[in-house]
Amino acid sequence: MTSKTQHFKLLKSNKAKIAIWGCGYIGYSTMCFYAKNNIKSFGYDIDIQKVKEINKGKINIYGLKNWLGFNINKKKQKKFIKATNNIKEIINDKDVICHFVCIPTEKNGKPYLNYFREILKLISKRKSNNFKIKECIIVESTLMPNTVDKLFKDYLKKYKIFDNFHFAVAPRRDWFEDQTKTLETLDRVFGCKDKSSNKIIFQILSIVTKKVHIATNHRVSELVKSVENCYRHVEINLANELSLAYPEKDMREVLSLVGTKWNMNTYYPGFGTGGYCIPLSSKYILGGSKYPKKLKIVNEAVKLDSKINKIIGRSVLKNNIKKILILGLSYKSNLKVHILSPTIDLVNYFKKKSISVTLYDPLFSSFEIKKILNVKSLNKLTSFQSYHAIIIMVKHNQFYDINFKKISRKSNLKLILDNANFFKNKPNFLPKNAIYKKTGQSNWLS
Ligand SMILES: NC(=O)c1ccc[n+]([C@@H]2O[C@H](COP(=O)([O-])OP(=O)(O)OC[C@H]3O[C@@H](n4cnc5c(N)ncnc54)[C@H](O)[C@@H]3O)[C@@H](O)[C@H]2O)c1
Repeated sequence: MTSKTQHFKLLKSNKAKIAIWGCGYIGYSTMCFYAKNNIKSFGYDIDIQKVKEINKGKINIYGLKNWLGFNINKKKQKKFIKATNNIKEIINDKDVICHFVCIPTEKNGKPYLNYFREILKLISKRKSNNFKIKECIIVESTLMPNTVDKLFKDYLKKYKIFDNFHFAVAPRRDWFEDQTKTLETLDRVFGCKDKSSNKIIFQILSIVTKKVHIATNHRVSELVKSVENCYRHVEINLANELSLAYPEKDMREVLSLVGTKWNMNTYYPGFGTGGYCIPLSSKYILGGSKYPKKLKIVNEAVKLDSKINKIIGRSVLKNNIKKILILGLSYKSNLKVHILSPTIDLVNYFKKKSISVTLYDPLFSSFEIKKILNVKSLNKLTSFQSYHAIIIMVKHNQFYDINFKKISRKSNLKLILDNANFFKNKPNFLPKNAIYKKTGQSNWLS
């Protein structure tokens, strides 16, 4: 694939640009990485505030600036990145030759394709570009297996998506917590509707990504994303199963030692999975299969994941606890994403049991927390006096600034449950009779 395609040359010479549909974590990071490589992008988002901020040159998404690890300077930002919420503007932009689809494809823990369908319909309305070449559509959003083929029957066919575009599915794998796992550094898989599109898509993705793998077709790349996350989902749930089956054993220690074997990953028991990808992956694998009953292990993982928070919640309440402080709404440390966060299920369980819950997550405003969970929240932690238990869900950097010793004076704390391995051992500020437990240690659920 040494000779360069027209698409590649047009993008590299800045005569043409890419369009980004949905400028969140995925879409905006695509824009930044392409800008870093001197490629122009034009983003479309329904969020007016986000569009304004992007055009002002601000990185508006929590944690993204750190993760990117580079600064798009003002000059570059002005030249290479622009966003709009005016659909006509992007549809009529004749410099665009490639569309990255980065909108959410899930809602309330289920696949949700309305935005996806709407965006493809909009793209299909484009008249020709300045260069009279066939444009590309690269789907970065996560799709359930067989989604594209199912949509093709009634929808994509109607809008001639396959006839008029080079169509590829190239799901993202980024790990926004870790600067070493980005669009640049992680291997990337894509699959095209037609093999004839492979070279064009490969070269466009390779502008940013070092190692790009070509799948036989879009069906394979669609499935790869769900399967890789389903493996993780099953393994995380296996850690919890082991902990339930061997309650008297310190499964945290066992699993950390298991992880020293050359071909093993380490997963710890805890509150289960969260975020867009992992909890949904097993459901996607089940939902996309013609034979879901064959997927017994996957089925069990879904079941356990949906009830583990109740099991843990019940064990916490055994200690006659009525007032609980939870640290962390995000499903992952240092990331402002609450989608399918285990905290949500846990809080809802405690609310049902009429337990008073207060939430502290410095990444979210009180207004946001109220909207998401309708519970009390703190802007600053000044005392533990009114709580019987603290549950540490994640370890945001800000938690290390808390002066636990000072604010725990005269506290009535009976329990700290640590899901994040925040403290190495039982902290010395805890009252003598209070219990400190890490998820997964021996008898942590008793
Ligand atoms: N965030 C991750 O860690 C991650 C990783 C891999 C894959 N994904 C997948 O990528 C997709 C996007 O995720 P994200 O994290 O960027 O989400 P996000 O919520 O950060 O961003 C989505 C953006 O799309 C915009 N949007 C919503 N509807 C739109 C519409 N109809 N038209 C235009 N814009 C619209 C929203 O305003 C928002 O700015 C999802 O399918 C997700 O599963 C996410």
